[in-house]
Amino acid sequence: MIRVGLAKGRLCESAIKSFEKMNLKQVIDLNSRKLVFQDKENEVEYILLKPSDVVTYVENGVCDLGVVGSDVIMEREEMVYELADLGFGKCKFSIATLKDNENILEQNFIKVATKYPNVAKKYFSSLGKEIEIISLNGSVELAPIVGLADCIVDIVETGSTLKANNLVVVEDMHLVSARLICNSVSYRFNKPTLVEWVKNLKEA
Ligand code: PRP
Repeated sequence: MIRVGLAKGRLCESAIKSFEKMNLKQVIDLNSRKLVFQDKENEVEYILLKPSDVVTYVENGVCDLGVVGSDVIMEREEMVYELADLGFGKCKFSIATLKDNENILEQNFIKVATKYPNVAKKYFSSLGKEIEIISLNGSVELAPIVGLADCIVDIVETGSTLKANNLVVVEDMHLVSARLICNSVSYRFNKPTLVEWVKNLKEA
């Protein structure tokens, strides 16, 4: 049985659609509170996880495969293998700030609010900028509005959250999309099955 860790949220529905296109059985019910779903016929078990926990479960060998955004993989900086870019969940990492503060990157010292402190630190360090990170767990768009930070580093998909909060992108940092991941041990032991999964998922 192959165990697949799925990131709940943004990517989940697209991942399920891809599995359907691979002719796997539709066993996942997102409306239930269940976390484990088995497709005995195809010997697959799916578990629903918080996005950043997908990396933990795969890294520790509890899941053979994981479907998670590259934003989470970049932030976690852990040793997992990316087997495929799945082409959905496309968005970007951007720096955004209030509409009247668009020259923010010219400042010598910048306060940055984010759910992605490692990604933000690395990027600003590559710009040679001194920053203070304000680590938040969500709704980061609020930080510049209430004066907690000068700008945010976050993923932007449609841009509607920024727009609704009067924020604008001042710089795009990285492209983000869903990835299929595994760890080295699982790859060694299940190589034929995992190679088949990659092939079928890419076609799907
Ligand atoms: C993500 C992200 C932005 C929003 C971007 O948040 O952190 O807030 O989606 O999407 P958009 O460009 O399509 O508006 P999420 O929905 O995961 O909620 P959170 O802020 O509570 O983590």
